[in-house]
Amino acid sequence: MTGGTRTTPGGTVLATLTFVPSGETIEVPAGTSLLDAAILCELDVPAPCAGQGRCGRCRVRVLSGDVERRSNAGLAAAEVAEGWAVACQSYVAGAAEIEVPERRRETVRPHGHAVAEPESLAVTCDWRQNPAVRTFEVDIEPPSLADQTSDFDRLRRALFQQHGVEEIRAELPMLRRLGKDLRMANWKASVTLEMRDWVYGTYLPPRLIRIYPGAFKHASMGVAIDLGTTSIVVYLMDFASGRVVDSASAYNKQISCGEDVISRIIYAKRKRGLDHLQKLAVDTINELLTELQKRNGIELYEIHEVTVAGNTTMTHLLLGLDPRHLREEPYIPTISAAPKLNAGELGLHANVLARVHVLPSVGSYVGGDITAGVISSGMYLAEKLTLFIDIGTNGEMVLGNKDWLLSCACSAGPAFEGGGVRHGMRATAGAIEDVFVDDATWEPSFRTVDDAPAVGICGSGLIDLLGELFITGLIDKSGHLDIEAPTARVRTRDGVPEYVVCWAHEGGADHDIALTESDITSLIRAKAAIYAGFEVLCTSVGVDLADVEQIFIGGAFGQYINVEKAIRIGLLPDQPPERFHFLGNTSAQGAYAALLCVNIRHDILDVAAKMTYLELSADNSFMDEYTSALFLPHTDLDVFPSVRDKLTQRRKGAADAPTPNGG
Ligand code: FES
Repeated sequence: MTGGTRTTPGGTVLATLTFVPSGETIEVPAGTSLLDAAILCELDVPAPCAGQGRCGRCRVRVLSGDVERRSNAGLAAAEVAEGWAVACQSYVAGAAEIEVPERRRETVRPHGHAVAEPESLAVTCDWRQNPAVRTFEVDIEPPSLADQTSDFDRLRRALFQQHGVEEIRAELPMLRRLGKDLRMANWKASVTLEMRDWVYGTYLPPRLIRIYPGAFKHASMGVAIDLGTTSIVVYLMDFASGRVVDSASAYNKQISCGEDVISRIIYAKRKRGLDHLQKLAVDTINELLTELQKRNGIELYEIHEVTVAGNTTMTHLLLGLDPRHLREEPYIPTISAAPKLNAGELGLHANVLARVHVLPSVGSYVGGDITAGVISSGMYLAEKLTLFIDIGTNGEMVLGNKDWLLSCACSAGPAFEGGGVRHGMRATAGAIEDVFVDDATWEPSFRTVDDAPAVGICGSGLIDLLGELFITGLIDKSGHLDIEAPTARVRTRDGVPEYVVCWAHEGGADHDIALTESDITSLIRAKAAIYAGFEVLCTSVGVDLADVEQIFIGGAFGQYINVEKAIRIGLLPDQPPERFHFLGNTSAQGAYAALLCVNIRHDILDVAAKMTYLELSADNSFMDEYTSALFLPHTDLDVFPSVRDKLTQRRKGAADAPTPNGG
C-alpha cells in the first residue's frame, strides 16, 4: 500500500479521492472516471452529454494526485495547466484531491409555465357525486370488555352505520398507526378515503389514507405533475372545489445529466446513474411541492392523491426502472402501465399513503404525456379525423378519432429546443422568439422572451427565422444561403456561411447571433422527420394528409409556433389556418383531469390500450418520406400550395420591380 492507495487480495488497486469543498472522501478502483466517482458521492457535476466527452461541461480541477486524462476536449492549454480536467474523460490512477466547482443554480423559470386557468381545464365529470378522495367524520364506539371488536372493524362499522360506506381497506403502514390514531382522536375522527380504485377492471373498496382527530379542519389536496424532460410543472388542486389553486414549475434537475432522453438513458447506465437520476426527479418535484405548501399554508400530509404524466423515459426514471432497452432495438419499455404506488414509496413529499397514478404509455416514445394529451384534447371522443402533435426532441403524434387511434414518434433531435444549433437556446429571457426579415433589405426585426437583450434563438425563433430566410430568397430550397446577396448580414465564418440576426452591439451577448448553414441543415432534418411521421401515419391507414379535419398542437413548445411560418418550412402540413388548434400544455391538463375525475382515469387506460403504436424504424416508407421532406418546404411543391403561390408571387414581384436603368 502507498499513500492513499491499497491493493485488495484480488489485486484490485483502490485509491482514495477527496472532493473539495464538500470534503467527501471515497475509495474507488483505479480506472474509475472522476465523473463516476463524483456521482457515487452524490456530487453535482453537470454532464449534459451523459459522459460521452462531447460537451466539455463536466469540468473539475485536479488539485493534487494521480489522474490519467484521456481527453482535454474543450479545455484551453492554460486551463489544463491550472489543473482543470474533463471529469468523464479523466480516470483515477492514484490518490487525488479534486475540486468540484460550486454550481450557479439555474434560477430562471421555464418560459410558458403559466398557471393553467381552471376554465381551460374544464372536465366533464360527475366528480362531486363521484369524488376521488373523500373525508368522513365518524363517532366510533370505544372498545370495552363487553365489545372486543378490533379497531379496524370498529371503524368499518361506524363508517357503514353513519355514512353507508359498505367496506373499506387499509394497507399495513396505515394499520400500524390505526390503534394509536383512534385513541388519540378519542374515537371521534375524520377519515380520509381514496374512494375509487380498481384492479383489472374490478373496483376495490375505499382505501384508508389518513385519520385526523375530531372534526375535519384540514385541506384535502391533490397534485397533478407534468414530468417533462426539460421542466416539471406541479399543479395543486383542492378536492373540495375541484379547482387548480396554484402551480409551480422548475427545470428538471436531471438536465445536468443530459439534455434529452437519449443522453439520460446513456447516463442511467453509469454506476449509480439511475439512482442519481431518480433522486434528481424526486428532488425537483419535492422542491416544488414545498414551495406550493408554503405559499398556500397547507401541510404536505394533506396532499392525498397524485397524478403524473410524462414521456416513457421520464416515467421509467422516476420509478427507478432501467430505461436502457428503450433505445435498443426492438425498443421495449419495462412497463406501459405503472403498478399501484404510494407517495412514500417514491419519496415524494406528500401524504405517504397518497396514491400516485402514473399515466400509462403506449410505446417507448409515446408516453403518458401523449395519452394525457389525447384525453385532454378530446380527440378520443371526436367524430372528425384528427391529428394530435407534440413537437419537441421527439415529434410524437396521434391520428384518429373516437373509433381508432394510431400513434408514432419520430426522432427530430434537439434543434427545435435550441440544441445542436450554434446560438440556439431554451425559451428563457433574451431568447429571440419571433423574427421578421424585410424582403427588400434583408434586415431582421425580432422579439425576445421578456423583451430582454437578445442572447440566442429559441425553437419558435428558429422556425420563424428559417421561414423568413426562405421566403425572402436568402436561402434556397436545399437550405443554402445566398452568399452573393448584397447584405452584410450574410457572411462566411470559418468556411461556413451564416446569417447574422443580431449584431453583438445590439444584443446582450458578447458575440453576433447568427444562424449558420449547419444549423439550417439540422433544422431541415428535424422538420423532415416530423413531416415524414405525419405522412407515414396517414398512409398506413389509407388516408391523405389533406383529409385531416383538425390538427391539435399540444405541448409547452407548440403554443409558440407560428403556423404560417411552420408551413413555409414544411414542418406542418399545408392546411387552412382554422384547422389548427393550440391546446397548451396538454400533458399537464390530462394529469389534472385524471386527478379530478376517476372516470377519466378509466378512459386513459382504455385509450392507451386502444392506441396502436407504429414503430417508424420498422417502417420502410419512413425513409422515403423523410428524404422527400429534406427540402424547403418539400420536394413536391404541390403538397404545399400556399407556399408555392407565395414563392410565385415573390418571383413575379421581383420580375416586375423597376430596375436601376428603368427597364
Ligand atoms: S464532456 Fe463530460 S459530460 Fe460531457
